[in-house]
Amino acid sequence: MSALAAEGLTRRFGGLTAVDDVSITLAIGELHAVIGPNGAGKSTLVNLLAGELRPSAGRIWLGREEVTAWPSWRRALAGIGRSFQRSNVMRGMTVLENVRLAAQAGEFPLRRWLRPAAREHGPLRAARGALTRVGLREAEERVAGTLSHGELRLLEIAMALAMRPTVLLLDEPLAGLGPEEGERVAALLRQLARDHALLLIEHDMDVVFAVADRLTVMVEGRVLERGTPAEIRASPAVREAYLGQGA
Ligand SMILES: Nc1ncnc2c1ncn2[C@@H]1O[C@H](COP(=O)(O)OP(=O)(O)OP(=O)(O)O)[C@@H](O)[C@H]1O
Ligand SMILES: [Mg+2]
Repeated sequence: MSALAAEGLTRRFGGLTAVDDVSITLAIGELHAVIGPNGAGKSTLVNLLAGELRPSAGRIWLGREEVTAWPSWRRALAGIGRSFQRSNVMRGMTVLENVRLAAQAGEFPLRRWLRPAAREHGPLRAARGALTRVGLREAEERVAGTLSHGELRLLEIAMALAMRPTVLLLDEPLAGLGPEEGERVAALLRQLARDHALLLIEHDMDVVFAVADRLTVMVEGRVLERGTPAEIRASPAVREAYLGQGA
């Protein structure tokens, strides 16, 4: 069974259809990349799946549960974790504080009230676990604003992991990174895909073909093609419309 599934997702902004009848499934153990040119609707798709935006049409399921009408916080509590194309890190706070705040957002107020002892330890443990997973545990006392670009990306991923999601929606976590830091984040993504359903938005085709198990190619809001990296490479439609020159 898929961890997350969407059928016929559509989102209009006035006269523009940013996402147009898109269906997609994400499974635990699989890294699913969504690629496409600027303005193709990739971030809008993530915002629809995360509940940041309401679809104009279409339905979304998390496991067996339909979540189309759920607000983003409820989806986050139920296991949909995400990062943003623009950073949501508080640069004046430490690495640990950032992740702990993210972890606290995953605590039910009622549960905290019923088990006051968990108030301190639950989120802290979750935060440290997430930092360990991304390789930033040693950096937990650093002020976030002093991190390198690559470390910031790792922190953003740790913040998404702090709520112990089953689904991870990552919008361009490699953007602006040099080859070395990009490699580090890409290796982490492969590792995270083992026990999460991971949706990755990424522009760099070399990276995408190296890390993705499956791809969805979007152009102007629509799905142009989907398949394995080998199938996408061989697709005449993708070559023509997206890979373009000399492919
Ligand atoms: N809140 C909004 N209001 C109006 N138009 C929007 C809104 N969000 C996105 N759009 C438009 O929807 C289209 C898809 O945007 P989106 O950000 O999803 O593209 P993208 O594939 O993520 O692009 P990029 O690769 O540049 O990040 C664009 O034409 C964009 O201008
Ligand atoms: Mg985008």
